[in-house]
Amino acid sequence: MSSDDVFQQDTLLEGGQSCPINGLRFAPEWAGTSIYLLSLPVADYSEELFAEELTAIATAADVRRATFSSGRHCARALLLDAGLPVTALPRQDDGSVQWPDGVMGSLSHTNDWAVAAVAATSMCEAQMLGIDLERIQALDEGVIKLIATPAEREALSASSSPLWLSTALFSLKESIYKCLARDFGQFFGFQDVQLSALQSGRPEVQFLHPELRARYFGRHLELRMAITPWHVFTLAWLRVA
Ligand SMILES: CC(C)(COP(=O)(O)OP(=O)(O)OC[C@H]1O[C@@H](n2cnc3c(N)ncnc32)[C@H](O)[C@@H]1OP(=O)(O)O)[C@@H](O)C(=O)NCCC(=O)NCCS
Repeated sequence: MSSDDVFQQDTLLEGGQSCPINGLRFAPEWAGTSIYLLSLPVADYSEELFAEELTAIATAADVRRATFSSGRHCARALLLDAGLPVTALPRQDDGSVQWPDGVMGSLSHTNDWAVAAVAATSMCEAQMLGIDLERIQALDEGVIKLIATPAEREALSASSSPLWLSTALFSLKESIYKCLARDFGQFFGFQDVQLSALQSGRPEVQFLHPELRARYFGRHLELRMAITPWHVFTLAWLRVA
């Protein structure tokens, strides 16, 4: 990955809004495998939702109806793009999406932007994947202590560390969680995974949780970051054994 892959210029959409994934759509060179991506401004698409999806937001506030339906709107646009069945995407008990057979995917949203990733299992070297989108912001000491291991805190406190670094650390951990948690079958926290080399653009992962380490021993977890002036977008995918 070159520095051009990490630091992208935002693409201005109509109305001056800036796309946080800079038009990455089908970007196998960036992702490392055939994953489709789409980000759109959050809007209320709840009229498009299937009955089995609506139960998840039956009592939700407007902003949640909008983020929930926008994620599914993006995902269905990608399913269509990829020639995959465009179906209901119900919420499972753990909060993740139930993707149709033969499809893997992940969703994320800020209050302004939704993003989806979708891939056909037969066309992809990934067994599972997770994505996360965060607005870049300075995280206070208390939050850093919660999300970063002592070694990560040391890297963050270096004078050369850019503002996006702590957001990227947080976002990569969220992507890793979304990628692995369902398969792993239990919760794991921010101190269970340690990341390094973020500033090189090629982040590396180390599992500190012994059961995580044992389960994914010898397996390759691919990590990607896309940094725009306002957002960090991250992707984690586990290579098929
Ligand atoms: C589940 C979690 C990762 C979601 O992240 P978030 O920043 O709150 O929200 P995002 O907007 O990025 O993503 C929300 C989407 O994630 C998906 N999601 C929710 N729970 C999920 C899970 N357990 N597994 C995979 N995807 C999940 C859903 O599609 C959800 O959108 P939807 O409800 O509209 O369908 C987060 O709430 C959490 O529990 N984090 C603690 C665990 C963790 O991160 N550990 C770090 C380990 S290193």
